[in-house]
Amino acid sequence: MMKKSLSILALSIGLLLPLSTFAKNNVVVVATGGTIAGAGANSTNSATYTAAKVPVDDLLNAVPQIQNLANVTGVQALQIASESITDKELISIARQINDLLKKPDINGVVITHGTDTLEETAFFLSLVVKSNKPIVLVGSMRPPSALSADGPLNLYSAVALAASDSAKGKGVMVLMNDSIFAARDVSKTINIHTNAFVSQWGALGMMVEGKPYWFRNVAKRFNAASEFNIEEIKGDSLPLVQIVYGSGNMVPDAYEAYAKAGAKAIIHAGTGNGSVAKYIVPTLTKLQNDGVQIIRSSRVPHGFILRNAEQPDDKYGWVVAHDLNPQKAKLLAALALTKTKDPAEIQRMFWEY
Ligand code: DGL
Repeated sequence: MMKKSLSILALSIGLLLPLSTFAKNNVVVVATGGTIAGAGANSTNSATYTAAKVPVDDLLNAVPQIQNLANVTGVQALQIASESITDKELISIARQINDLLKKPDINGVVITHGTDTLEETAFFLSLVVKSNKPIVLVGSMRPPSALSADGPLNLYSAVALAASDSAKGKGVMVLMNDSIFAARDVSKTINIHTNAFVSQWGALGMMVEGKPYWFRNVAKRFNAASEFNIEEIKGDSLPLVQIVYGSGNMVPDAYEAYAKAGAKAIIHAGTGNGSVAKYIVPTLTKLQNDGVQIIRSSRVPHGFILRNAEQPDDKYGWVVAHDLNPQKAKLLAALALTKTKDPAEIQRMFWEY
């Protein structure tokens, strides 16, 4: 008798809720700060403002239309300008996203984030979060207080994407300025314009009026297919990896100082094809022999590093970063070093992710 009355109660409650509640996916917006949560003194301050001021509930309330797309809830994970994110915050975000997506009633997540290091957080999540549910990072180039702010529509599109069944299995995505980018190859290339983000391999697709249109998939490993797992990362730091920017008339001190500071790998953001000045080669070969992995990337935004082209990488035991920019190579190197110090194994990882 009790069971029958409970089922009648459940049915009647169900009838009270709008059918759309059950038809819509559940999306959690995890806020971390940035310009999308920024505040300027007046509406004409599109570049002069303070990042990381507006709380997540205000971001969601400013775009009520998102509730038509999904059952949306907000979580304030951080309130920080993204240039100040360290391993501690990065690992914390990844743990929160991984845990959220393990819940069967959560269909996707949106992460609002500063644009300065958005590409790094996106790439890191693509390597360590084990879910193939939609993970969408979104930011803005103008604060919500500015004329023609880009944040509200970016947020609307990001929620629509995270709620879209067709976004499952696409990997971690970045939604900016109507474009859907892949975490591994998107980069911020203009520091003061709404079309700041590009990928040399093109967008995965576009969002138009809340609907995704797809044109390509990622050819590399990510999320469930990754050998890395946030649940295997202990503590709140990764092996230290640093970047040295290549230019003319260099001195070797930066490389040596990083090694002294405990760097387990150094990303050489070289000129051209990751070139190393002949007077710097001895420093890098010594560091490699001392156990600091040298990884050649490039300061050039497009193309990819060829192994054994102008540098005998096989002879030196160096690794090339393939098409990953220096800041992403730094993250993959740090994760690789949680598993191995073997240059050949690290190189395999750079071919595969
Ligand atoms: N301080 C920068 C950041 O938090 C602002 C840039 C932005 O979010 O667009 O990444």
